[in-house]
Amino acid sequence: MNILLIGSGGREHALAWKISQSKLTTKLFIAPGNAGTATIAENISVASDDLDGITEVCLKQKIDLVVVGPEVPLVLGLRDRLEKTPGLERLLMVGPGASGARLEGSKDFSKQFMLRHRIPTAKAKTFTALELEEGSKYLCTCNLPIVLKADGLAAGKGVVIAQTHDEAQSTLHDMLGNKRFGSASERVLVEEFLSGIELSVFVLTDGEHYVLLPEAKDYKRIGDGDTGPNTGGMGAVSPVPFADEAFMNKVKSAIIAPTIAGLKQESIPYRGFIFFGLINVGGSPFVIEYNARMGDPESEAVIPRIDSDLVEVLLACAQGQLKGKVIRMTNNMAVTVMMVSGGYPGTYSKGKTIRGLGQLSKSGSQIFHAGTRNAGHEVVTDGGRVIAITGLGNRIDEARNRAYRDAGDLSFDGAYFRKDIGVDLL
Ligand code: AMP
Ligand code: GLY
Repeated sequence: MNILLIGSGGREHALAWKISQSKLTTKLFIAPGNAGTATIAENISVASDDLDGITEVCLKQKIDLVVVGPEVPLVLGLRDRLEKTPGLERLLMVGPGASGARLEGSKDFSKQFMLRHRIPTAKAKTFTALELEEGSKYLCTCNLPIVLKADGLAAGKGVVIAQTHDEAQSTLHDMLGNKRFGSASERVLVEEFLSGIELSVFVLTDGEHYVLLPEAKDYKRIGDGDTGPNTGGMGAVSPVPFADEAFMNKVKSAIIAPTIAGLKQESIPYRGFIFFGLINVGGSPFVIEYNARMGDPESEAVIPRIDSDLVEVLLACAQGQLKGKVIRMTNNMAVTVMMVSGGYPGTYSKGKTIRGLGQLSKSGSQIFHAGTRNAGHEVVTDGGRVIAITGLGNRIDEARNRAYRDAGDLSFDGAYFRKDIGVDLL
């Protein structure tokens, strides 16, 4: 089978690494990929939001299966576009159409969806720019902290947790009045703050049935001890100790099953990943957000733990034949450490030479490129999150030691990584 993977981050390198090991894979292309994916597959220089370019690649390279990493092409309607392209009638795809991707693309839609299907989530009220005054009055009645969310995609920056009423007021005015996130903040959700530990749960669904992937914990803040600004994710651990059988049974019955049944009931076709961003509030899971894709860096921890042939399951998903399928996982623990550019998540420079890639890996960890590119004979930095290092082991400390030993052998000017990934779970 010829497979086209869309995206360029660590998640895509991890997916490419697993897909390339399958006996079902004839040729793997990645658009646009990074320096890491170039070592195991063919990068094609087409951006992940270039629907015209992707359509052309599918036709030209006789692609059988498209697997989408990031959310933007899904929300833009890549599936809908490919489905109506003459010559691509038999093309299979993992990733929902625009209607299903609204689970991620509109926080107002997903909140109303959860309410309709009685899926546990934080209480929220939505305000438009015309309702600014009403929203402002409503804020005065809310307990602190107050969560404000731009409705649309805002590259992970659309959520503000206001610690004072003044901050909540200025955030609401900024988002609705000044359109801080453009059309993404034409609507803003004012949400109740939930207190608990977060975890990421992933399924692959064909709209009827689903298979569960290993769950993971993401470390979002830039600094050790969960301090400083939010990032795309500085590390991950899988599995998550508190996600025991009793807890996961609640997740399945109160969240996963009603979500998939709800999509079906509302005639929203869905073949792809659903990422449930959950919070454990006193033993009960609540949904913080849905994503229509896998997590990053969670994928870099989760995918190396999968024992099954991933392409077999992706194919079954795309064909609507997931019934009876399972994903076998190993008993390993995985700890992923993300090396980032100095200055990230603020401004940072690119093009720094990455040293030490050649001699890896002393401890057997897996290196996934995130923001890298080839520049002549060198690999250089090309993003905020640069390289993910995943250690596996029978215990968390063993997995941590492996990841950190190899992280210490990699360097570039300004490189930074958190030193405490997984420490809270020891
Ligand atoms: P989101 O972009 O929806 O994932 O939100 C970003 C982060 O904000 C989440 O990962 C949580 O840490 C936090 N967050 C979002 N909604 C809430 C909430 N209702 N209560 C507490 N924290 C939240
Ligand atoms: N690590 C969180 C995300 O992928 O959205």
